[in-house]
Amino acid sequence: MFCLSDRKNDPIEKFPNCSVPQTLIDSNDRAQFERLQQLRGFQDADIKTRVDALWATDTEQLNKSGQIAHYKQKMTPRYRKQGHPLAGRLCFENTCAKCHSLFGEGGNVGPDLTGSGRKNLDYLLSNLVDPSAVIDPAYCLTHILTHDGQLLSGFLVQQGDTFATLQTQNAQIRLRMKDIDEIYTSGKSMMPDGMLQNYSDEQVRDLLVYLRSSAQVPLGDRAN
Ligand code: HEC
Repeated sequence: MFCLSDRKNDPIEKFPNCSVPQTLIDSNDRAQFERLQQLRGFQDADIKTRVDALWATDTEQLNKSGQIAHYKQKMTPRYRKQGHPLAGRLCFENTCAKCHSLFGEGGNVGPDLTGSGRKNLDYLLSNLVDPSAVIDPAYCLTHILTHDGQLLSGFLVQQGDTFATLQTQNAQIRLRMKDIDEIYTSGKSMMPDGMLQNYSDEQVRDLLVYLRSSAQVPLGDRAN
C-alpha cells in the first residue's frame, strides 16, 4: 500500500485512489494529476518514493514527446484551415484566460501572450504540452507543505523570518513560518502540465487557430 504513512496528515493519503496502478491516475482525473505534480517536488524521501511508485517520471517525458509528435503530424495547414477560431477563443477563455491575457483580455499570472511567439506552431505545441521545458525563472512554481498537511502551490511573493506570502492561481496567501513544514521551489512552471489531455484533436486545432490569429475573434462571429 502506498497510502500508509506515519504523518498525521498525509498529503498522499488525500488521493482517493492512491493505491491504484499509475495508468489509472494520469489522464483521467485532472485534480489527481495536478496533485501528483505538486507532490513530486518535495525533498521528503518518503513522499518521493511513493509518488514515483504512482507515476514514473520517464513515462511522463515519453508521453510528452509522443504527444508533440502526434500534434505536429496532425496539425497540417490543411487541417488547420478547417478550424473554428471562435471555438478556440471559448476554449481559451475557459482554460487559459485565468492566467494569460491575449488581445488585452485575461489574467496576469502568466505572461501576456499577445506579443509572444504564438504564430510559431512548434513554440505553441512545446509550451502547451511541456510548459516546464523552457521556463523563465521568475515563473518557477513553489510548493509549501504546512505542518497540518496542507499543500499550497504558487509564486513565492515574499519570505521573511515570520511570514511567507504565496500567490496561488486564485489568491494571495500569507502563512506563518512556524506553520510551514517545507518550502520547495521547483524547476517547474506554474503552468500545469497536460493541459491538452482532455481535448480532442479538433479542440486543440481550434485553440491553435485562435492563438495564432492576428486580431481578436469577435464573439458574435458564430458562422466562423
Ligand atoms: C495556472 C496558470 C496558467 C494556465 C491555466 C495556463 N498557463 Fe500558460 N503559462 C503560465 C506561466 C506562469 C507561464 C510562464 C512560464 C512558462 O514558460 O512555463 C506560461 C507560459 C505559456 C506560454 C509561453 C509564453 C512565453 O512567453 O514564453 C504559452 C504559449 C502559454 N503559456 C499558453 C497557454 C495556453 C494556450 C493555456 C490554456 C490552454 C495556458 N497557457 C494555461 C501559466 C498558465
